[in-house]
Amino acid sequence: MLDRVNAGTAAERLVIRGGRPLHGRVAVSGSKNAALYALAAGLLTAEPLVLHRVPAIADTGEMAGLLADLGAAVEISGTDVRIEARALSGAMAPAERVAALRASFLVMGPLLGRLGEAACPPPGGDVIGVRPLDVHLAGFRALGAEVAREGGAFVARALRLRGARMFLDYPSVLGTVNVLFAAVLAEGTTTIVNAAAEPEVAMACALLEAMGARIAGAGGNTLTIEGVPALHGAEFTIIPDRIEAGTYLLAGVATGGDVEVLGAELEHLDSLVSKLHEAGAIVEACEGGLRTRRGDTLEAVQLQAVPYPGFATDLHAPMAAALTQARGVSIIHERVFENRLLYVGELRAMGARITTGGQAVMIEGPTPLYGTGVRALDVRAGAAVVLAGLCAEGETVIRDVVHIDRGYAELESRLRALGADVSRA
Ligand code: EPU
Repeated sequence: MLDRVNAGTAAERLVIRGGRPLHGRVAVSGSKNAALYALAAGLLTAEPLVLHRVPAIADTGEMAGLLADLGAAVEISGTDVRIEARALSGAMAPAERVAALRASFLVMGPLLGRLGEAACPPPGGDVIGVRPLDVHLAGFRALGAEVAREGGAFVARALRLRGARMFLDYPSVLGTVNVLFAAVLAEGTTTIVNAAAEPEVAMACALLEAMGARIAGAGGNTLTIEGVPALHGAEFTIIPDRIEAGTYLLAGVATGGDVEVLGAELEHLDSLVSKLHEAGAIVEACEGGLRTRRGDTLEAVQLQAVPYPGFATDLHAPMAAALTQARGVSIIHERVFENRLLYVGELRAMGARITTGGQAVMIEGPTPLYGTGVRALDVRAGAAVVLAGLCAEGETVIRDVVHIDRGYAELESRLRALGADVSRA
């Protein structure tokens, strides 16, 4: 059973009785997004790929299901996953599966590299913006593939992929990983200029190198790949989830608590930690992670959500929730996705003084928040209402929990261990 994870049903609600500062320790899971890239990489080799610390969340179950649809044998045991894609059954990713998950488009690169052909309908995922695929498709074309829209799917074909120098119009995260997947099996040298530098992309490079790929520049904006004829199996551990870690740090700050987040890596969270310091919060290293406490006051800050190492767009909404408790007017400018502001109306319903102007959000604080019925409109908007609920007086009832479950494993038990009053109804 591949879809074994804690995907809530549409009817499930999270009920939070807020107003308690969080105290204690919480350990984060493996990175959701990095795990999705690693699972897709399993298609690149006929040998077994064994992954550890794969978070038990709905999206990884969907991706595992997609690999199985394409002919891979996938075994899941807790957070360990073994993939063996000895023979692939076809080059077409099934539409139902792809509709559920943006990262499903990542099977294109491996299928193209291994079979010379790949087809995938436009993928689903959070409704956070237009989310085009031009970077992926231009990258495949640069490697010599013919790319076309045939009926309901994008199709890429290449008798032989050839390495090339290319410039990505935007440092798209999934776009970089997809092109990387195709390039590792291409003939000759590929140079990707303006590649995404996110730690999850760097991890994908490290995994591919463990599988025999030759990549220079991981973690930077230029990647150089020497193609190899085939990759081999490997055993690999997924990096901790920096967004989940950041969310728990923010929950500690927002509630005025004292929280140790085990697995939080400073080198992946510099932009958040520096803003928290500027706001007056105390964030310091502790054994195995980062500890946060609120300082004497929490002050308003201004920030922009931009590609790594800038402030992560995935932490924008949780940060906004925390800043409702800061003194003064905070401004967050969203510069990655044009539809990341869905959470604003929900926070306003809870009493936040928050307004938008274009892609900017103004938050006036500190404001007392009040529990009410709200919705998790996407995974990070969901995290924002959870944080607001933890700060709020009274009972917050969150609908559409299924979105939160896509990114946060064992959310209730982890929050309860920190002293929160959270239940699922
Ligand atoms: N873009 C293009 N052309 C493309 C692809 C993207 O112009 O071909 C633009 C998008 O329109 C957007 C910007 O580039 O404005 C950023 O998109 P990117 O491709 O970098 O995002 P993504 O790869 O689709 C991944 C994560 C997101 C995370 C972003 C940014 C996965 C499955 N998703 O998305 O994570 O916010 O990178 O870091 O890895 C989440 O975890 O909640 C989430 C949405």
